[in-house]
Amino acid sequence: MEAFDSLKQSFLKALETVFKEAELAELKAEYLGKKGKVTQLMQAMKDLSPEERPAYGQKVNQLKNELSDALNAHKEALENARIEAQLATEKIDVTLPGHDMSVGSSHILTQIVESIEDLFIGLGYQIKEGPEIESDEYNFEKLNLPKNHPARDMQDSFYIDPNTLLRTHTSPVQVRTMLEYGGSKPVKIICPGKVYRRDDDDATHSHQFMQIEGLVVDQKTTMADLKGTLLKLAQTMFGPDRTIRLRPSYFPFTEPSVEVDVSCYNCEGTGCSICKHTGYIEILGAGMVHDNVLKMSGYDPNVYQGFAFGIGVERIAMLKYGIEDIRHFYTNDMRFLRMFNQ
Ligand code: PHE
Repeated sequence: MEAFDSLKQSFLKALETVFKEAELAELKAEYLGKKGKVTQLMQAMKDLSPEERPAYGQKVNQLKNELSDALNAHKEALENARIEAQLATEKIDVTLPGHDMSVGSSHILTQIVESIEDLFIGLGYQIKEGPEIESDEYNFEKLNLPKNHPARDMQDSFYIDPNTLLRTHTSPVQVRTMLEYGGSKPVKIICPGKVYRRDDDDATHSHQFMQIEGLVVDQKTTMADLKGTLLKLAQTMFGPDRTIRLRPSYFPFTEPSVEVDVSCYNCEGTGCSICKHTGYIEILGAGMVHDNVLKMSGYDPNVYQGFAFGIGVERIAMLKYGIEDIRHFYTNDMRFLRMFNQ
């Protein structure tokens, strides 16, 4: 009995000094393992007389149970302590302010396009897109610019093969849409997109830039509708007090054709360096759709009339924000782009 007791005491003492789960496994092996001390006591049973064996066996079993209960309790305590420690060190304060996320913003040209789209969607227009690689037929011929027409020189082009080029303007989307509508439906669209011209890049020229085309075709469309629409556009872009002025011009695909000026937003028309002391700034080209263009795209000019306009997006942005060099839009200097973060 004494041997049992001292074994139990030495076990409990050893247990108190165990703080790691790995050491606990060692202690378990030392006492309860195959060659452990308690197991040896079990084996000693065979040396006893049959009468002594039941009582002895009971004792050993009891000891074994006590030790393994103590072992399990200690194991649980160690585990709890480990979790507590982990919780204490990994604690996070959810009330602390978070890190600022760096959020991108849309490009200034996208912002201008979207604001013009918003205006025209509000006026009942649809947005159309066309390919940047375009056929000579749609970019020129069906816009009343046959091969060898001198006005082709107005738009120096990048040809891919004799019949294919990078579109020089968004006007081919006029042709595509009229052909799609089949000559019998009214058309009311704007078409934003990239265009390309064989220009040497400098402060005011870029071989790639953006335009927004507008086209309305219906049975009672007049120049007054064009004028009212462009006035609304000028006021949306440059402020509610703006007026516009139309000057005669020439485009092969419109007749009559006009150049449209907006009253200077800087000097209110009295004359300053922005408007070169004229009180007006040129913002776009427009006109009534030429009979030949209507005909070539399947609309009868005796029944339908239309107006069209083309806006240069960079030019609008440069005027609106006083940007002096068109190359800023395409050279991705973050200091420039960030000025227009919304
Ligand atoms: N396509 C012309 C250009 O790029 C602009 C324009 C469009 C003029 C529609 C009149 C009508 O210069």
